[in-house]
Parts: sequence; C-alpha cells; structure tokens
Amino acid sequence: MGIHRDFLLAQPRMRMAPSLLSADFARLADDVAKVEAAGAEVLHLDVMDGHFVPNISFGVPVVEKLRPASKLFFDTHLMITDPLKYAEPFVKAGADLLTFHIEVTDQPMRVIDHVRAVGARVGVSLNPGTRVSAVAGVVAAVDLVLVMSVWPGFGGQKFTEDALAKLAELRPMLRPDQRLEIDGGIGPATIGRCAAAGADTFVAGSAIFGQPDPVAAMHELQRLAEAARLTR
Ligand code: DX5
Ligand code: ZN
Repeated sequence: MGIHRDFLLAQPRMRMAPSLLSADFARLADDVAKVEAAGAEVLHLDVMDGHFVPNISFGVPVVEKLRPASKLFFDTHLMITDPLKYAEPFVKAGADLLTFHIEVTDQPMRVIDHVRAVGARVGVSLNPGTRVSAVAGVVAAVDLVLVMSVWPGFGGQKFTEDALAKLAELRPMLRPDQRLEIDGGIGPATIGRCAAAGADTFVAGSAIFGQPDPVAAMHELQRLAEAARLTR
C-alpha cells in the first residue's frame, strides 16, 4: 500500500468518495484524474453482479486497469452475493478496501477475516431495509460501515430519509479510526444532514460526475459537509 492510500483511514475528517458509476465509461482514466487532481483521496467503485442487485456494472479488469493510473484509495463496494469468492481477485487488482453487504452472509466474521487475510481493509454495508442491529455484532471488527440511502443497483436515485437515523445510531458505536460512509442520493440538498447525523465519508455519483463541472461540484459538496460537521 502506498503512503497516500495508507494515510486515508487513520485521519477522521470529511471526505468525498466520487463514484465511478456516474463517470464516462469511455474515458474512465480522464474522469478519475480530474477528481484526483482536484484533491479527492477516495474513489468509490460500485461492483454489481446482476444477482444481489438487478444491474451489472464492472469487475476486476476495470479495477486492474485503473490501478496504475491513480493513487486514490480504491473504496470497493461489492454489491455481489459471493464476496468470499471474489475478494482476492479484487485485492490483487488493487482494491484498498472491500465493503460487503451484511445481507449476503450469515457468517460475516468469515468474510471480514478473509478480506484481511488477502490484504485489504474491510467494510460492511446495510441496505435501506436492514436494521443497524444486523451489523452491531461486527462493527468493532471493520474499518468502515456503509449506510445505503437508496436500494443499491443504480445511480441517480432519491435519498431515503431513514438513513439519517441509522447514521446517528451508528456514530457512537464507532472508534475514531473507523469511517462512517453514506451512499445514494447524496448531493447539495442531503449532504449537510448526513454530516450532521455522523457520516464522515460521502459517496456521490450523479452529483459529481453527472455535473457539467465535476470538480466544482465536488468542492461545493465538501464545503457543505465541513460546514455541517462544525454544527454537529
Ligand atoms: C448505488 C451505488 C452508488 C451510486 C450512487 O447502487 O452503490 O454508489 O453510484 O449514485 P448517486 O450518487 O447518483 O445516488
Ligand atoms: Zn456504492
């Protein structure tokens, strides 16, 4: 792991995680370079298998090709039914953190131990229909908890307000070295409330890459998140 990427999770502060899902798939490296040059540290990679979610996005080869093109922390969101099977190939391709869904396994510690054994940091995610209690038993063992504020599968959906209560419930359960990430429908109208509720890492696809000026959009979101944190 390079210094830039190793530094990431140790520093508790507000961070944007632009989602590749809304980038131009014909010009991925260009879009990634744009947000990286503008100060992003994290790239959110949405992997979909067409089983856990009703959509297929991209897999290992895309991560592998992007790796030498970027120093960003590859925050890899596995919306797949079998994280144990694919963890190692994603880590070998350059993923820094793998987030799996609690809904896909009744043995989450096995997944967590495996991801660490193959050399990555690990996150756990919960869908809008899943209670915080479902992850409570493993929260202490992960680097990141990802709250879904839309049903996973597609970008550009509307934020579900229930996510705010989950963030507030999770925040006191986490140590300073653990990140609380929110994903789905994050934009100027929602990011401040998420920051105030306890999120510190903000996935945004359409609100960054879907904008005419992705860099300006990212900086404005970052500003709104920091302003809301000060009021927390
Ligand atoms: C949804 C993905 C998200 C998606 C968010 O299944 O997990 O990361 O890219 O897109 P926006 O920010 O457009 O809601
Ligand atoms: Zn995601």
